[in-house]
Amino acid sequence: MDTRTPTVLALIASPRILGNCETFAKEVSRNIPEAHRLRLLRLTSLKIGRCRACYGCVVGRKCPVEDDMAFLLGEIANADAFIIASPVYYLGANASIKAVLDRGFLFFDILEKTHGKPAVLLNFYGMPGRIGAAPQTLETLAAFLGLSVKASLSIEAALPGEALMNKANAGRATRLGKALFSRGKRRRAGGCPFCGCEIIRVVPTGFVCTVCHGSFTIGPQGRFVKGKDGGILGSPEHILLHREWLRGMKERFNDRKREIMKTIIPYRDDGEWVEPPGK
Ligand SMILES: Cc1cc2nc3c(=O)[nH]c(=O)nc-3n(C[C@H](O)[C@H](O)[C@H](O)COP(=O)(O)O)c2cc1C
Repeated sequence: MDTRTPTVLALIASPRILGNCETFAKEVSRNIPEAHRLRLLRLTSLKIGRCRACYGCVVGRKCPVEDDMAFLLGEIANADAFIIASPVYYLGANASIKAVLDRGFLFFDILEKTHGKPAVLLNFYGMPGRIGAAPQTLETLAAFLGLSVKASLSIEAALPGEALMNKANAGRATRLGKALFSRGKRRRAGGCPFCGCEIIRVVPTGFVCTVCHGSFTIGPQGRFVKGKDGGILGSPEHILLHREWLRGMKERFNDRKREIMKTIIPYRDDGEWVEPPGK
């Protein structure tokens, strides 16, 4: 029997010390009824480099970017549950979330460990209603790590600590804390009928979820009617099919290299690249 105390890893995507992301994540932890160890990682303090699009990791080679990504993935793989908190910056999640997500090919290596682990997603925003697409980026991060999202909440709070000062949020923290390790499924008050994400695209035939890419329409009773499953989420085996597809693309690149070069090389010397002085 595993008697180890479970670890809750809080990924804090805000540079603000004791800001809303940090303090509210700690408040959620205080409300988790199960004994646990809270570990916190400030994503904005980590060195996360850019994906070089070499596709090396999808064919088993070591990532050439030297930064804190391996450390972060190790922490994520070893955690039992997650609180992912980001401030809304310019109608999106903080860039540190996207920086991690852009290295998501590396998630394939830890997917067996992360798949199905519970997570709550928190967005903090300062201006009434100005959330933009921020929740979608957190949902995407959770989806590609195979996490089981128990709740995704956007909380209005501008000044540090405001999320805690608003008494209405105390109940939210209690509910989130209870939900994290509970067996219950995510409660949805709308959003995509497949995965619950609220940010959807409008297409001529209806709607497409921007995370799971399931399609749906609105039925005569005003309810969402499911169409085609987007095929993105599912079991680890299913998600890992994407890695197979990427490996196939690498082979396709090698097969078509001559044709590709013939197409792109004529564009090499067009225009003038501008760089900062001294580079
Ligand atoms: C650069 C920057 C951009 C921001 N953009 C938005 C925004 O688009 N919409 C919004 O409602 N609040 C925006 N805010 C306010 C923050 O989301 C808000 O203050 C939040 O509570 C910060 O969380 P923190 O205390 O954990 O850092 C922005 C703040 C900063 C510093």
